[in-house]
Amino acid sequence: MRNKRILLGISGGIAAYKVAFLIRLFKKAGAEVKCIMTPASSDFISPLVVSTLSENPVAIEFWNKSTGEWTNHVDLALWADVFVLAPATANTISKMAQGQCDNLLLATFLSLKTQSIIAPAMDLDMYAHSTTKRNLEQLKADGVSIIPAEEGPLASGLIGTGRMAEPEIIFDFTMSFFESKEPKVLQGKRVLITAGPTYESIDPVRFIGNHSSGKMGYEIAENVLRKGAEVVLISGPTKLHLSHPNLKLISVFSAEEMLQSVQEEWNAAHIGIFAAAVADYRPMEKVDQKIKKSDDALTLQLVKNPDILHWAGTQKEKHQTLIGFALETNDAMAHAAQKLQKKNLDFIVVNTLEDEGAGFSTDTNKITLLDRNNKTQVFELKTKREVANDIIEYLITFIEQKS
Ligand code: PMT
Repeated sequence: MRNKRILLGISGGIAAYKVAFLIRLFKKAGAEVKCIMTPASSDFISPLVVSTLSENPVAIEFWNKSTGEWTNHVDLALWADVFVLAPATANTISKMAQGQCDNLLLATFLSLKTQSIIAPAMDLDMYAHSTTKRNLEQLKADGVSIIPAEEGPLASGLIGTGRMAEPEIIFDFTMSFFESKEPKVLQGKRVLITAGPTYESIDPVRFIGNHSSGKMGYEIAENVLRKGAEVVLISGPTKLHLSHPNLKLISVFSAEEMLQSVQEEWNAAHIGIFAAAVADYRPMEKVDQKIKKSDDALTLQLVKNPDILHWAGTQKEKHQTLIGFALETNDAMAHAAQKLQKKNLDFIVVNTLEDEGAGFSTDTNKITLLDRNNKTQVFELKTKREVANDIIEYLITFIEQKS
């Protein structure tokens, strides 16, 4: 969403207070935000809050009574990459459906050349009313995208459908509008991705694990799915969810299970991206009963796990591209260079816990890409979504140059 221009309309309903959070999400993602409010909406959220968070003046009236300046609704409409109306009240929806323009927000809507997305919010009976349904159908037919209202407690005290979708949902919906425009450059490619940790059982209730959340691998999966690839995501235990028609998600627990799935899938893949934090060792013995507390100390004997990426490297065919990760704590580039050679990789993504905000669990990462010619590309600290995009853009150039 970086540098995307979002024109955010706010109409007068209690859900307007949630817009503060929505603006923050848009801004955090790097978007530029300008807001237009209906006069009624300023009873629910202060224009000062909206202007402070959006870092732009707020447009409410056709002309500023103190300066006499006119607000050019056509300029605002042409500036926008997308128009998002949240909350969209029954009144504003009705006027939009009929083409009325008795306020600045409505006049701007009529001047738009881009997509409109609206998030209705009203009481349950208003939402269920046949006129509201008809107006929403009309807007849909006019090409407006509608984020359905949700069920839950309403300001009236009633419970039912009419709550505005949460800011995160509106954010994701807006994001998917931009993403749907992304060219499908990886169509026809099958990408195998490993993600998350592996857990190595000590007994039925305990395991050896690590701090990987799976975020990095899942962001990569989402990125290549958006670019049209078919994806096999082999994931260790995580709290993350992902579903997509082109996704085969295989959930595994241990390194041995991950290896087995990789062995079944690698042959059919064009690209392998190994972001999982695989446990290097597992307990030698598999104990069926919970180990009882007895002595003061307990010694566990560990044996080496298979190196899954190394296995894939030994099987790599000419048409396949293999990318590994290196998570380091010291001498990052030297260790990563050894892994690149030993595991027969095309390039390696280096992240080190020496960099604040990089590595496990965080929403951010800081990476350096290293190729077989010892060439590096260093990136700033970014969100994992952006990091995933940097890796995949690099990969696309790499494949183009290879063929
Ligand atoms: O999941 P997140 O919380 O988002 O965190 C992301 C991450 C820090 C886990 C990710 O960015 C990362 O660095 N993943 C690799 C972690 C790791 O295990 O690095 P390594 O240097 O130990 O392993 C090198 C490569 O070999 C990795 O691609 C790894 O997946 C692979 N490997 C390692 C051991 C093994 N037995 N089998 C493997 O396939």
